[in-house]
Amino acid sequence: MTTPTSSTPADTSTAPDRNLALELVRVTEAAAIAGARWVGAGDKNTADGAAVDAMRSFMDTVRMNGTVVIGEGEKDEAPMLFNGESVGDGSGPDVDVAVDPIDGTRLTALGYNNALSVFAVAEKGSMYDPSAVFYMEKMVVGPEAADFVDLRLPVKQNIALVAKALGKPVSQVTVCVLERARHEPLVREIREAGARVKFIMDGDVAGAIAAARGAGVDMLLGTGGTPEGIIAACAVKATGGMLQGRLAPIDDAERQKALDAGHDLERVLTTDDLVTSDNCYFAATGITDGDLLRGVRYAGERIVTESIVMRSASGTVRLVEAEHRAEKWDRWTSA
Ligand code: FBP
Repeated sequence: MTTPTSSTPADTSTAPDRNLALELVRVTEAAAIAGARWVGAGDKNTADGAAVDAMRSFMDTVRMNGTVVIGEGEKDEAPMLFNGESVGDGSGPDVDVAVDPIDGTRLTALGYNNALSVFAVAEKGSMYDPSAVFYMEKMVVGPEAADFVDLRLPVKQNIALVAKALGKPVSQVTVCVLERARHEPLVREIREAGARVKFIMDGDVAGAIAAARGAGVDMLLGTGGTPEGIIAACAVKATGGMLQGRLAPIDDAERQKALDAGHDLERVLTTDDLVTSDNCYFAATGITDGDLLRGVRYAGERIVTESIVMRSASGTVRLVEAEHRAEKWDRWTSA
């Protein structure tokens, strides 16, 4: 490696720079506005397709040489940004890109809370490959409890550790859980421990970030998508909180596939395992209201969005409220 001197300026083209985080928010704003056009319309694929198209158009204005390593849609054959797709204007740093134009397609279609558009970027080769197993057991807490909890401990013990770290009684600890039949035993354990459960219908990226920031919930527990876990890890890194995950194969075939690919299914993956780089960026814009962000609002000729922009290297978290002129968005939001 050459040491830069005054006559040989440092080559910054291969490292993500500060501006990237703020550029990304334009991408999630565009996807959220396009997806929000379909809130409550009952058609999740159309909503997702609109968000994908808007995201793709805006992504290519970002100064980066990105490769999508975590796309979306494979689970239910929704419209998608493909893994391996090149994104960005090609002129900037080489980066891994993780996208979810709508985390919470069903929430959007049914008009429920908690849908987000999300976009994460990290140094090339630093994001975990989620391809082997679709689901992951997850635990997320904020910075106060980050050094104490461990996914291998019983749920009751982790909740007690969170309560102690936050300096409040267990009865005031709120745990965010995806509302799924598979979580019935977990929910029983949380309630037996004396803590509260806050169910979300979908959207555990928003749930994870809310837990890491103490925004209405203190902890997230339960099994959700592995890609969503990696995307959330990019955001959690900036908060100083912690996400731990353990792959959760749905059947023997998936278990075998994971073992064949060399995965240790007992291993607890930390935030740093899921995203090894400390230089990652995350942006999300609310589509419908949630604990983390307000959804897209319409005020006469204006569309108002609320977003969160995070950078792990500095730990900066910005909340961005933006007003957009409605007429400008017609080409993405018209039916
Ligand atoms: P989509 O909006 O992309 O369908 O994902 C929603 C979501 O709730 C994720 O937030 C979560 O990780 C995953 O689905 C859980 O999967 P499942 O609905 O199969 O339990």
